Amino acid sequence: MRTTKSVDELIREAQQTQELRRVLGPANLVALGIGAIIGAGIFVLTGQAAAQYAGPAIALSFVISGIGCVFAALCYAEFASLIPIAGSAYTYAYATLGQFFAWIIGWDLLLEYLFGASTVAVGWSGYVVSWLADLGIHIPKEWASAPLAYDPKTHQWTPTGANFNVPAALIITVLTALLVLGIRESATFNNLIVFVKVGVILLFIVFGAAYVNAAHWTPFIPENTGQFGYYGWSGVLRGAGVIFFAYIGFDAVSTAAQEARNPQKDMPIGIIGSLGISTLLYILVALVLTGVVHYSQLGVPDPMAVAVNAMQSASGEPLYWLRHAVKLGAIAGLSSVILVLLLGQPRILYTMAKDGLLPPFFSHVHERFRTPARATLLTGTTAALIAGLFPIGILGELVSIGTLLAFAIVCIAVIVLRYKRPDLPRPFRVPLMPVIPALGALVALIQMLSLPLDTWIRLLGWMALGLLIYFLYGRRASTLAQNQAS
Ligand code: ALA
Repeated sequence: MRTTKSVDELIREAQQTQELRRVLGPANLVALGIGAIIGAGIFVLTGQAAAQYAGPAIALSFVISGIGCVFAALCYAEFASLIPIAGSAYTYAYATLGQFFAWIIGWDLLLEYLFGASTVAVGWSGYVVSWLADLGIHIPKEWASAPLAYDPKTHQWTPTGANFNVPAALIITVLTALLVLGIRESATFNNLIVFVKVGVILLFIVFGAAYVNAAHWTPFIPENTGQFGYYGWSGVLRGAGVIFFAYIGFDAVSTAAQEARNPQKDMPIGIIGSLGISTLLYILVALVLTGVVHYSQLGVPDPMAVAVNAMQSASGEPLYWLRHAVKLGAIAGLSSVILVLLLGQPRILYTMAKDGLLPPFFSHVHERFRTPARATLLTGTTAALIAGLFPIGILGELVSIGTLLAFAIVCIAVIVLRYKRPDLPRPFRVPLMPVIPALGALVALIQMLSLPLDTWIRLLGWMALGLLIYFLYGRRASTLAQNQAS
């Protein structure tokens, strides 16, 4: 049985059923990328990674992880301009490696988007609770954290005494409602938030630069403690693995391909442009952060607020405005990440259902709003439940491993399609073929290997569940199977 879908077939099918609205231009797409990228990674994880593993050299970790992402981004850009369909990596796999791999990647992408939205919502909840506390409003812990905690040392789940993370579930509910209402409304809201968060980050960089104390940067790479991963060059590498999470999201631009006005030209701009801008901002924030405060003090959930406190003591002036701006910037920033991840997921489900691998429920498009409303509502409800019940650490690692697997498959798929169909018109081409995609896949695999065994076991469990569904439903119901039977 033939199991790949030809690129021509994919594009023809999409053109015949263009139900989604084509309204996004290049600026919207870059904003969509920045909306998805800049979030919990920079606002939360950077401080911890600097304090525990890399010291001031966390800036180098950002460079290393960023280079790996650029390789993957170039591959996404080639595919997104060649096959501009909402399924993203799932569709690219269908066109190159066949239905089975397509299903695997589609199922895997749930980890990136659905679980990603939940992870960031938990981070959002933390920042909101802390900001409200600054204003004297105290949210009880039982209603703002997960009822379960996991101890990686003993491999045991224990109850925390809390009930449900209400703020995390709430933000997902609100953003889901917005996404049902329309892509244009969602993009406008995203543009606004991106403006606020990038503004706050620039403010932090420019204002903070004046308070940098070069003594905090010496030694730039603290001496290794004798254990792999704790400072020294191995610490820089481990830091790169941890802050990889900060880069997740540029690929989400490709899920909006069917809503882009000119996807052939604008998809690469959206993907590479948003990654480039975010990388630059990350490196600068990392330098200012570790220059203003000694890295050993940054292992907190709100490292940028700690840096503002340090600026306050150095200047002798109360910098309340900057403190509030940083927290509000983080809250806004995390909202847009959740928004774009919640936007991507239903579009992938939509494409999978169009191919018959999922029931038609998922490909239903709302008549008036022209959005995949049912898939959006189901995604939102599930993400809200996950965010309410699970702790951030477990979710974050699962998101990273799932995303890295998708990156590796996309990098390999680019090479496969170049050999199988060299004739196809490629508006954007990955340079230095096949070196860049091969390196992209290698870097992704190395980063996957640096994640704990527990995370691997969860990934395999998730995949086993996916395969069960595939063999019981998708394989037989797929349009490819149906067409070949008739
Ligand atoms: N890159 C996104 C973040 O850091 C997922 O929140």
